[in-house]
Amino acid sequence: MDADYWHKKWSQNDIGFHQDDFNALMVKHFGGLDLRDGAHVFVPLCGKTRDIAWLLQEGFRVTGAELSQTAVEDLFADLSLTPVVTQDGALLRFATPELVVFVGDIFDVTQHALGAVDAIYDRAALVALPADVRARYAKHLIAVTEGATQFVLTFTYDQTTMNGPPFSITADMIVDLYDQHYALKLVDERAVPGKGLKGRTPATEVAWELLPF
Ligand SMILES: C[S@@+](CC[C@H](N)C(=O)[O-])C[C@H]1O[C@@H](n2cnc3c(N)ncnc32)[C@H](O)[C@@H]1O
Repeated sequence: MDADYWHKKWSQNDIGFHQDDFNALMVKHFGGLDLRDGAHVFVPLCGKTRDIAWLLQEGFRVTGAELSQTAVEDLFADLSLTPVVTQDGALLRFATPELVVFVGDIFDVTQHALGAVDAIYDRAALVALPADVRARYAKHLIAVTEGATQFVLTFTYDQTTMNGPPFSITADMIVDLYDQHYALKLVDERAVPGKGLKGRTPATEVAWELLPF
């Protein structure tokens, strides 16, 4: 899953991961983080998720990071926002007062560029990454946000039935990646509607809160 894989997905509009509606588990449980009004939420690997519209609607300030410039242009257009675009090191920075999105590799996003982060919203980000990248990603998120609280949505399913992404992320994997830094709370889970992932694999969507010690 290198950058070309994702750029091709976006150029072919092969984006089955994109949800037209707000994520139901986020809507139900994100408030449980008890963030202050105007808190800063980081959305790694954000695509053009509608969930950003919900976070903005709830009064949060949002920063995203995404490889695909096409996705980010669509995101701002969908929100009827006109960003100021500047170069920031290896990244392009699309900015309005309420929403900033860095276009480029998540591993080029720095703590300095992000500023202080109150919480991370990870939907279809951890699950999009192959096993060998996940540990690096988890460490990077912790480093650039100084271990901010996380709300993480994962899928679990029988990995032998389908190749990822999305990959199946078990509770043991969450423990391995995050239990040195966070208290882990499985908040809720629900069956993926219809015939499951990609319309063929029964799966469970799981919501985790990661609370820093
Ligand atoms: C499965 S999609 C999820 C998008 C979004 N979170 C959502 O819920 O719709 C994963 C996204 O991560 C982006 N991506 C993959 N690798 C990345 C990287 N190294 N840095 C930044 N974005 C990346 C892809 O372009 C893709 O849009």
